[in-house]
Amino acid sequence: MEENPFVFGKAVEGRFFTDRMKDAEHLEANLTHGINTILISPRRWGKTSLVKKVISNVTRPDIKIIYVDIFSCKSEYDFYRQLATAIIQQTSSKIEEWMITAKEFLSRLITKVSFSPDSIQEYALSFEFPDKDSSEQDILQLPERIAQKKGLRLVICLDEFQQIAEFQDSITFQKKLRSVWQHQQNVSYCLFGSKRHLMTELFSDTSNPFYKFGDMMFLKKIPTEEWIPFICRKYQETGKIITEKQAERICKVTENLSSYVQHLSWIVWYKANPVTTNEMIELSIDELLEQNKVFFQREIEGLTELQLNLLKAVANGVDTGFSKKEIIKKYRLESSANVQGVKKAMIKKDLIDVDGSVITFNDPIFKLWIKRNIPNL
Ligand SMILES: Nc1ncnc2c1ncn2[C@@H]1O[C@H](COP(=O)(O)OP(=O)(O)OP(=O)(O)O)[C@@H](O)[C@H]1O
Ligand SMILES: [Mg+2]
Repeated sequence: MEENPFVFGKAVEGRFFTDRMKDAEHLEANLTHGINTILISPRRWGKTSLVKKVISNVTRPDIKIIYVDIFSCKSEYDFYRQLATAIIQQTSSKIEEWMITAKEFLSRLITKVSFSPDSIQEYALSFEFPDKDSSEQDILQLPERIAQKKGLRLVICLDEFQQIAEFQDSITFQKKLRSVWQHQQNVSYCLFGSKRHLMTELFSDTSNPFYKFGDMMFLKKIPTEEWIPFICRKYQETGKIITEKQAERICKVTENLSSYVQHLSWIVWYKANPVTTNEMIELSIDELLEQNKVFFQREIEGLTELQLNLLKAVANGVDTGFSKKEIIKKYRLESSANVQGVKKAMIKKDLIDVDGSVITFNDPIFKLWIKRNIPNL
């Protein structure tokens, strides 16, 4: 059987990657010219894929781009450890080389190097922070020192950067990072993550250390005109058939959200035999809803009644005017002051985003599920 031409649930590369030409060019120009960049979008629109794509595009020998995912970092210590490990590993090609680098620059900190039994790629560095301040400085200065020594320019990409907002005493930590990073001559940073409200707060609140740290890129969705040929081509390449209209239906239901477009395309593709019928698409939508049901139910369980009422309103197309009496009454939101609090809580949960006074629902399939399954008021 043909190989599945659609990919979701992990960053996409190569032939699974579509469009984003302009974004890729913009980001590549920034990264190769030493411009600090902040890349923001809601979840699963394609940030990681874009950054990885650009990293693979840049082949200049004088620029080294380092990718670090800090999603699992729960503390400053985790962060330093992960950062130092990634920098050492990714700037050295051979094992001897990174041993030397580690010794040369971090001899005061590294107490042990351990390998996984079957691969030298997989190794772990054990750190000790004899003197907290100077140890942290050693790590933060590491990229600049390596860059100077090797005559390179380094770009450090930190994925899931919003994570640092969760660290204890985060503002002090951010100050520390910024005070070092802004003086580095040969290193620039690309910071990206989801949770738009958190990321935006980190970089656009005048009171925060990272205020105006770099060029802010707000990733947009891949437009329907780009998705349609992508989907149709994938079917064609694997001997199946879908019409442009049908591909458009997939985009419409998923509101062009990258991972859902790929996911739904896959469910439909699997059914196509080799022709796609409209009924197959509708069945696939049901299936997609069904597959996500447990997540949605759990999400709903964690909501207060008012929060759920607001979600219902937004799911049913009300996106503004929440201070109006008739809307408050119709959706049982109690009072305009309540609405503000509820909105904040829902943004925090990453369920909605607010742009001016307009509210948008982040997850189009969750939205559809609410419309179909939660009784209207
Ligand atoms: N350029 C693209 N072309 C085709 N599909 C894409 C593209 N970008 C993203 N996708 C789809 O979206 C999914 C999520 O992409 P990715 O992990 O890059 O998003 P993200 O914004 O980093 O997500 P998260 O917020 O969860 O970290 C991919 O698995 C893929 O299905
Ligand atoms: Mg990502």
